[in-house]
Amino acid sequence: MKQKAQSIFEKAKESLSSAKDLKILYDRKVLYLGKKGELSLLMKNLKNIPLEERPQWGQFFNKLRSDLEEIYLKKQEELSHKELSERIKKEKLDLSLSGPRLLNGSLHPISLIINHIMELFKPLGYSVQTGPFVESDWYNFEALNIPPFHPSRDLQDTFYINDDHVLRTHTSPVQIRVLEKESLPIAVLAPGSVFRCDSDISHSPMFHQVEGLFVDTKVSFADLKGTLSFFLKQLFSPETKIRFRPSYFPFTEPSAEYDISCPFCKEKGCSICKRSGWIEIGGCGLVHPKVFEFTKHDKNKWQGFAFGLGVERIAIILYGVPDIRLFFENDMRFLKQFKSL
Ligand code: PHE
Repeated sequence: MKQKAQSIFEKAKESLSSAKDLKILYDRKVLYLGKKGELSLLMKNLKNIPLEERPQWGQFFNKLRSDLEEIYLKKQEELSHKELSERIKKEKLDLSLSGPRLLNGSLHPISLIINHIMELFKPLGYSVQTGPFVESDWYNFEALNIPPFHPSRDLQDTFYINDDHVLRTHTSPVQIRVLEKESLPIAVLAPGSVFRCDSDISHSPMFHQVEGLFVDTKVSFADLKGTLSFFLKQLFSPETKIRFRPSYFPFTEPSAEYDISCPFCKEKGCSICKRSGWIEIGGCGLVHPKVFEFTKHDKNKWQGFAFGLGVERIAIILYGVPDIRLFFENDMRFLKQFKSL
């Protein structure tokens, strides 16, 4: 048996050492050292050997096995090394291949317009403030003199978070936040996202407004008209005409909506201005005395004007974009086209 074992050992040693790759090496290991391998089969004969001789035989076999394992491990390391270095040699890194192209980021067209509007108001001394998107009933409605039964609170327009909080439906709550914490006089712009439950070619449930608030001791509607005319003529063109139409907002009195003459048809009437020759830009008015009361300012001392404008509407006119939804679909082919104004 010893001779038989020795010859299996020699055969196995020779066979393992001459394996040409890892797969062959592993197959050969199984053949000699596996459970059904030649050595294991031979070891089954141990049971026919007298009990007192078994330990020696056991030792003998274990030594053969561990020697073979060692040979196997050495060979395995050698072959892995060889295969790796061959692979490295073969797989040359081709530095001349062009890599994936990285796209340059750019500002969103809505951000470009907002930045431009802020630049235009800078020389008039306006600073910039922002407010939260989730607003309490107080800021979004109550302090703006919008009573509980007012239609603008309608569930169909307003996204309610709970009984007391909404996604702000306009940027006017920033008027209240500013009046509550800043000292007067003041001139601020408040740009940002607003939310209304509305969606079609000209409405998006999330859109943007820029709010303007100017407060001093002697402010009239003429100041409001002058400011908006100055701004709108710069934004569009010096020939642009501005029209104010009487309107109603609970937080301004008197209130107006303001339009620009249609830059596409020069007031002749086209599909963009719905044949009217004018395009509505936003709402405005003189700050309502109630708003000063709610924010604990002397309504007999302070006067002011406020205005809001829809940023998407301006972007649509300046960039000639036909559908508001294009701004928020994040199609790179669309977004790539916009450069700052
Ligand atoms: N907040 C009003 C709106 O969203 C616009 C507005 C702002 C009107 C400021 C008057 C003064 O329609």
